[in-house]
Amino acid sequence: MKKILLTGGAGYIGSHVCNLLIDKNYKVTVIDNLETGNKFLIPKRAKFELCDIGNTKKIEQILKKENFDIIMHFAGLIRVDESVKKPKKYILYNYEKSKKFLEICFKHGLNKVIFSSTAAVYGNLKNKKAKETDKLSPLNPYALSKMKLENYLIKKSKIDKINYVILRYFNVAGAEKKLRTGLVSKHASHLIKIICEVATNKRKLLTINGENYNTKDGTPIRDYIHISDLSDAHLISAEYLLNKGNSQIFNCGYSKGYSVKQVIFEMEKILKRKLPSKIGKRRKGDSERVVANISKFKKYFSWQPKYNNLNLILKSALAWEKKLKKYE
Ligand SMILES: NC(=O)c1ccc[n+]([C@@H]2O[C@H](COP(=O)([O-])OP(=O)(O)OC[C@H]3O[C@@H](n4cnc5c(N)ncnc54)[C@H](O)[C@@H]3O)[C@@H](O)[C@H]2O)c1
Repeated sequence: MKKILLTGGAGYIGSHVCNLLIDKNYKVTVIDNLETGNKFLIPKRAKFELCDIGNTKKIEQILKKENFDIIMHFAGLIRVDESVKKPKKYILYNYEKSKKFLEICFKHGLNKVIFSSTAAVYGNLKNKKAKETDKLSPLNPYALSKMKLENYLIKKSKIDKINYVILRYFNVAGAEKKLRTGLVSKHASHLIKIICEVATNKRKLLTINGENYNTKDGTPIRDYIHISDLSDAHLISAEYLLNKGNSQIFNCGYSKGYSVKQVIFEMEKILKRKLPSKIGKRRKGDSERVVANISKFKKYFSWQPKYNNLNLILKSALAWEKKLKKYE
C-alpha cells in the first residue's frame, strides 16, 4: 500500500483528491495549517498533521515517522486579488515555504512530487490555446509565485534524482457526486462559487468584473474543469511517477472556453430564473481569455474526461452549496 504525503488536504482540491486516493486504497497523511482550509473536509481515514509547510522541525518529525512514496503539494494561497495587495505574502507561502518544504522532503529521500500549478502562469493568451511549451508570462504575484516554484523543480530535477509532475490547472469547479467535500470559502473569488452563493441566497448580487474585454460578449473567457476529472488526473500522475515516469508538465482543462455571461446564463437555465447582477470594474491582473490545449495529457495517458459538461459542473456546484448550508 503506497503512502502519500498530501499538503493542503483541508482545502477544496486537496480534500477531493484525498478522498479519491483513500477510495483507491492509498494511505494518506495530510499536512495543513487550516489557514484557508477546513478540518471537516479532511477524510476521517486520512492521518492529519496540523502544521505549516514552513515548520521545518515538525515536517522533519513527520518524515522520520513514516516512509512516504510520493508528495502531492496542494498547500498554498490562491486569491489573485489578495496577491496583488500582498505580493510578498504570496511569494513567501507559494514559493519560499514550498521550496523549503520540498527541500526537506528531498533530503529524506522522498523524491517524487505532484505540484499544483495554475494556468495563470501563461498570462494573456488572446486567441491561442495554452500549450505546455508556451512562454510563461505571469500577470500577477500569485501566478509569479507558482512559476517560481515550477522553475525551482525544473532546475532541481536537472541536478538531483527527483521527478515531478507539474499540473497547470485551469478553472476548477463543481463537486463530486457523493458530495463528501466541495468548495468552502469565505472570500470566494471563483465565478461559479459566487453564482452558487447568489443562487442559494447567501449573497445578494453578482458582480461581473468588466464587460469591455475583447471577446464576443465583452466578458472574460475561462476553461472550467470538473474537480472529479482533475482529481483523476492526479491519480494518473501519481501512478505514472510511482511507475518510474520522468518529469512532466501537463495542462488540466477541457480545451473549451466559456465567457462569464455564458456561465451565468447556463445557471439561469438550471434555476429557471434570472440572477441579480451588476457590471463592475475590471479586476487588476485578470486575463481576457485562458483556455487550455490538453492534447499532451490526453495522448500521454489515453485520457478522456468524464465530466466535461458545463451544465453538470454547475448542477454539482449548486448541490454542494445547498449541502454546505447545514455547516454554516
Ligand atoms: N481552485 C482553483 O481553481 C485552482 C486553480 C489553479 C491552481 N490551484 C492551486 O491548487 C491548490 C489547491 O487549491 P484549492 O482551491 O484547494 O485552495 P484551498 O484554499 O481550498 O486549499 C489550500 C489549502 O492549503 C492550506 N495551506 C495554505 N498555506 C499553507 C501552509 N503554509 N501550510 C500548510 N497548509 C497551508 C490551506 O489551509 C488550505 O487547506 C493551490 O496550490 C492553488 O494555487 C487552484
